[in-house]
Amino acid sequence: MADIDAREEALRLEIVEYGRLLYTRGLAHGSAGNLSVRLSDGAILVTPTNSSLGFLTPPQISKVDPNGTHLSGDPPSKEAFFHLAVYEERPEAQAIVHLHSTHAVAVSCLCHEDTTNVLPPLTGYHVMRVGPLPLVPYFRPGDRKLAEAVRAHARDHRAMLLANHGPIVAGKTLSAAVQAYEELEETAKIFFLVGNRKASPLTCEEVGDLNRAFPS
Ligand code: 13P
Repeated sequence: MADIDAREEALRLEIVEYGRLLYTRGLAHGSAGNLSVRLSDGAILVTPTNSSLGFLTPPQISKVDPNGTHLSGDPPSKEAFFHLAVYEERPEAQAIVHLHSTHAVAVSCLCHEDTTNVLPPLTGYHVMRVGPLPLVPYFRPGDRKLAEAVRAHARDHRAMLLANHGPIVAGKTLSAAVQAYEELEETAKIFFLVGNRKASPLTCEEVGDLNRAFPS
C-alpha cells in the first residue's frame, strides 16, 4: 500500500513537472491542454479542468476511476472521458498528452482530402515517434461524442488530431508521450515551412524500413 501511494505521489509530481515544461516551452497556453497517467488499479491521474499546466501542484491533480467518477483532487479535465477511451483501447498506453500547440492546431484547421493521415512522413523521427495521424471529426471540447470518435481511432494509432482542436498522443510513459508530442508539433512546423515547395517525403519503403527497425 505504501509502495502504491509512493508511486502515485511520484506520478503526481511527474505530471506537475511535465506540465510546467510544456508551458515553459510554449506548447501549452492559457488553460488549454490536459495530461494523464494510468495507475495500476485502472484509475487515472489527470490535470484539473480550467487549470494552467504551468502552475499545478501535486494535490490538485485529479484522480478518476475507470468509469470517470471523480475520486480526489480538483475537478478533472472535461476531456477525462477521451483519456479513458484511449486507455481502454490501448492496453500498452500508460500516459496521454493533449495540447493545443499552434502548428499542430493549424494543421487541424485545414481541409484534408485524406483524413487517415494528415501529416506526410517528412522525417524519420516523425515516423518513429508519431506514425500515421488520423483526423478525428470535430465535436465540442468535453462532448462524450468526441470521446467515442477518439475511441474509434485509438486502437490503431498512437497519435490522433482532433479537427479544429489539437492532437492527442499516447505513450508507454509520460516522458515518451511528451517526446512524441514535441515531435508532432515540430513536424507540423516543418510542414508549414516547406509550404507549397515540392517536398520529398519518405517513401513507403523507407517508412516500412523504419517501422521494422523501430516498432512502436
Ligand atoms: P480542460 O481544462 O477541461 O482540461 O480542457 C482543456 C482542453 O484542452 C479542452 O480540450
